[in-house]
Amino acid sequence: MTNLSHVELDKQTVTTAYARWAPVYDLVFGAVFERGRQAAIAAAERIGGRILEVGVGTGISLPHYSRECRLCGVDISEPMLRKAHERVAEFGLTNVEGLWVMDAEHLSFPDDSFDVVVAQYVVTTVPNPEATLDEFARVLKPGGEIVLVSRVGAEAGLRRALEHGFAPAARKLGWRTEFSFERYAKWADRTSGVRLIERRAMPPLGHFSLIRFAKDGGAGVLRPSFSQEAYQAARAAS
Ligand SMILES: C[S@@+](CC[C@H](N)C(=O)[O-])C[C@H]1O[C@@H](n2cnc3c(N)ncnc32)[C@H](O)[C@@H]1O
Repeated sequence: MTNLSHVELDKQTVTTAYARWAPVYDLVFGAVFERGRQAAIAAAERIGGRILEVGVGTGISLPHYSRECRLCGVDISEPMLRKAHERVAEFGLTNVEGLWVMDAEHLSFPDDSFDVVVAQYVVTTVPNPEATLDEFARVLKPGGEIVLVSRVGAEAGLRRALEHGFAPAARKLGWRTEFSFERYAKWADRTSGVRLIERRAMPPLGHFSLIRFAKDGGAGVLRPSFSQEAYQAARAAS
């Protein structure tokens, strides 16, 4: 078992890191993560309705959603969120219901509040990823989806060794390099009413994935469930 104690994240490290990133975030991470964001938005819009973006950051995705979608955004970093407020004003995004400073692990929304919960490049930056996913499932309506774009760490080989070596530096920058797909799969396995429905490799270099979970129930739009073969393939690809 890997000793991750020296690379675990705490909220103070994360808020300090993103206060530093805020002025330059869009310049550094705008284009590089664009394809992943587009894929997540497309997946979220297939469900539509009321969408929560967790770790909304500078609000870089917000203008790209259909104006039919009602958007709520939360982030733990006040300086990142200030940029998001500026963006909402600049683009006249009247479909944005609100932006709040809030911890992803303790969302102050009632159960079953949203049709979709989106988190792009966020789950590997929170101190307790599984507790955070529990919160996403709680605030999601039955029949809704959790849509993630997330870094998936290598299981073995040179990339695994490099990620391990870079982990302490990455922590200071505000994210983890080591995070196996197995953690997502195990979380879904043990969370009642939640199914893994897609994993799709995303650039840069396929080191990121679009990961979708469905919450059972609701009148729901008919959508295919993940076949057992596809589920095993997604796990094997990690
Ligand atoms: C890598 S950035 C991603 C920003 C944006 N989603 C994007 O697509 O570029 C990670 C964001 O997650 C936020 N974040 C980290 N930990 C959080 C937490 N516990 N609760 C809410 N937001 C958090 C950070 O402040 C930062 O804005």
